[in-house]
Amino acid sequence: MNWGESSCIAEKREKPVVAGEHERSLFPWLRRVHLIVTNYLQALMMRTSRRHFLEQMGWLTAVAAARNVAGASVHSMAPGRTPEALLDTNGLARFVDPLPIPQVLKPIGLRPSPADPATQFPYYRVAMRQFEAKVHRDVPPTTFWGYGASCPGPTIEARSGQPLLVEWANELPTRHLFPIDHTLHGAEKDKPEVRTVVHLHGGRVGPESDGYPESWIVPGQTAKYFYPNKQEATALFYHDHAMGITRLNAVAGLMGSYVIRDEFEDSLQLPSGAYEVPLVLFDRSFRKDGQIFYPVSTKPEAPWVSEYYGSAILANRKIFPYLEVESRKYRFRLLNASNGSFYRLSIGTVPTVTSSAVEFVQIGTEQGFLAGPEKMAVLILGPGERADVIVDFSESAGKELFLRTNLAMIMQFRVSSRKVADSAPLPAKLRPIRRMAESEATVNRELTIADYQDRLGRSSVMLLNGAHWSMPVAEKPVLNSTEIWSFVNLTDDSHPIHLHLVRFQILDRRPFDLATYQLTKKIVYTGPPVKLEANETGWRDTVRVDPMTVTRIIVKFDGFAGRYVWHCHMLEHEDNEMMRPYEIVAG
Ligand code: C2O
Ligand code: CU
Repeated sequence: MNWGESSCIAEKREKPVVAGEHERSLFPWLRRVHLIVTNYLQALMMRTSRRHFLEQMGWLTAVAAARNVAGASVHSMAPGRTPEALLDTNGLARFVDPLPIPQVLKPIGLRPSPADPATQFPYYRVAMRQFEAKVHRDVPPTTFWGYGASCPGPTIEARSGQPLLVEWANELPTRHLFPIDHTLHGAEKDKPEVRTVVHLHGGRVGPESDGYPESWIVPGQTAKYFYPNKQEATALFYHDHAMGITRLNAVAGLMGSYVIRDEFEDSLQLPSGAYEVPLVLFDRSFRKDGQIFYPVSTKPEAPWVSEYYGSAILANRKIFPYLEVESRKYRFRLLNASNGSFYRLSIGTVPTVTSSAVEFVQIGTEQGFLAGPEKMAVLILGPGERADVIVDFSESAGKELFLRTNLAMIMQFRVSSRKVADSAPLPAKLRPIRRMAESEATVNRELTIADYQDRLGRSSVMLLNGAHWSMPVAEKPVLNSTEIWSFVNLTDDSHPIHLHLVRFQILDRRPFDLATYQLTKKIVYTGPPVKLEANETGWRDTVRVDPMTVTRIIVKFDGFAGRYVWHCHMLEHEDNEMMRPYEIVAG
């Protein structure tokens, strides 16, 4: 079995629909078998492959096919506990709500640059507020927290090389929507319950405006951030990053798109205006009264759960929306803004099969354009990852198409039968990408990703290179130097690892011998590198680190000196120590 590629991802991505019900019924004895296997096969404290074990046993497929119900986190339901009154989102009427398109934010004026008061830059103000919105025609209004009282928040449009200023205002209530785990770092009892700090994910931003997790503000406070936009055209996203409660602020709805454009992009004549559509995807479960359901553990004093998977995948905050499209090319700016789910997306003529009718033509990754368009029948997106894709509906006039994962429906496209003029054909070449050579790196860091469990096999803490958040900074690259970071994954999960500030290239992903590593701390590869997907050769800011593999990236640390963070973008992991500060030091 190939551990490195599709197997684990296919399973994880389908989690939104399989989590919950089967866990409640099969949980006790599977957990027991798992524990026995763990004890015999794994070194002390290290997590074994629960999911792969289930997968090998054929359970996941069987269960997934049989049950398609409202899901909760794997770790939320203790046997014998009354399940919450959850909404069966799969039973909702399909395609009754149009896909909402987030507003584009307008500046409220000009303000002087922090560095040079003689220059003025566009000034925006975004207030975080509690509000109610409908996720579906037949579901009562849901309480959200959102930037500009919307979820997704308003889209910020920027031009490369043209800085802007944003005043982020925390105007939220002082009580949180979800229970806080005060045993987690930075969320202790003496900290205010509601804290927020905005990070522009993928932004080349100075440390004072990057949204350091401890630089949070409370209701009534504001923070003024400066965004230089000195980077290539791409879609970034802004989201909350407050220490120890990021997962809860995200589930409440604090996220939005930030698009950077440049002249090169203009020259491509890509579909634009109504033909360029942001698609922000995230999964949620709901109670019958329409409120977001976020599970808690069985320990009242420590409610943290290790992953969050919702029963429905929402697109721009709607369950099963539809979008009327013309029979021509569209550009979709896809963002996986979920807490923990990987999605395996495809477009087909029927709701649930895996064969794709229309391919995505991917033109860009997290940090900009690919060297050329790549046809992708299936697109894998982990938490925090984005894809810039063209979908051509011109062969599908009069048809209905569906965006879905292998098992879950997301939305419908209704293609008009009218003939229309299309935009220019896609150029065969996009932005050239120089592959970085390993020889450019002056430092090689080997960094483990591990999950430590308690006696019952429950995750209790997750560490990057064995270090807690509060330990001294260990990763201190020199400004303008290049390094190779090798992520050694000792867990059974894929982890989307994200570094702030920088863009990087993936070198490879290669299977290694876990037992040998645990005994000797030496990497012994067990096979050649797994072939990277065509869309993994571009500039990234997040990389999927698969189980049983060493995933290597090459990074040039340029832009700014100062303190940033790197972390797992599964937000439950990030909140429980899977985040570390790093510091770029002047040479
Ligand atoms: Cu998208 Cu540090 O995060
Ligand atoms: Cu993780």
